[in-house]
Amino acid sequence: MASGTFISFEGGEGAGKSTQVRLLAQRLEELGREVVLTREPGGSPGGEAIRELLVHGAADRWSPVTETLLMYAARRDHVERVIRPALARGAVVVCDRFADSTRAYQGAGGDAPASLIASLEEHVLGGTTPALTLVFDLPASVGLERASARGGAARFESKGLDFHERLRAGFLEIARREPGRCAIIDAAASIDEVSTAVWGAVSERLDLA
Ligand code: TMP
Repeated sequence: MASGTFISFEGGEGAGKSTQVRLLAQRLEELGREVVLTREPGGSPGGEAIRELLVHGAADRWSPVTETLLMYAARRDHVERVIRPALARGAVVVCDRFADSTRAYQGAGGDAPASLIASLEEHVLGGTTPALTLVFDLPASVGLERASARGGAARFESKGLDFHERLRAGFLEIARREPGRCAIIDAAASIDEVSTAVWGAVSERLDLA
């Protein structure tokens, strides 16, 4: 039986998740918890190899259904080799993106069928799902500007504003449907304000002290 705690961070491009994932991990470590800080796509050697296929190249290199299958191949490896073992030894797993990114990017942003994604969640994750998901919300145009200033792997950033607006709506819809698991974080605020909001949601909903 897993005894650890699984927290995921979600949201569009340029929302500042990676900074906040690190700040939360630091804070939990100061409380004496073992923290496994990880990310998707990636997080295990096999997952990172699949990530390389996904984040580089032309926007239309893969269709949304192919992307979904690659994301889930990477996710299964990550879950089997990193997340489940960490939860089993009582660690807090803090993951920069997880299954909601597939619902939003490939489902709401792209045209991967919701039934395919739901079936993969059920059969591939086998119940390994976050106890808390922080959904970073930001206008798509602001996030894209921040992301392009940062540089780096830009395949998904290049999909156009419409795509990014659909995926923002997709994330908000997930949070609306699953309020027990999800907390929306206003990612337009300052780094300090966002980190206070993240800690507020974590300490209110989880018993980690
Ligand atoms: P990152 O920039 O947050 O590391 O993520 C890499 C890209 O992969 C990002 O543009 C979002 C995208 N992505 C999906 O499209 N579907 C997924 O399931 C995941 C985990 C990420």
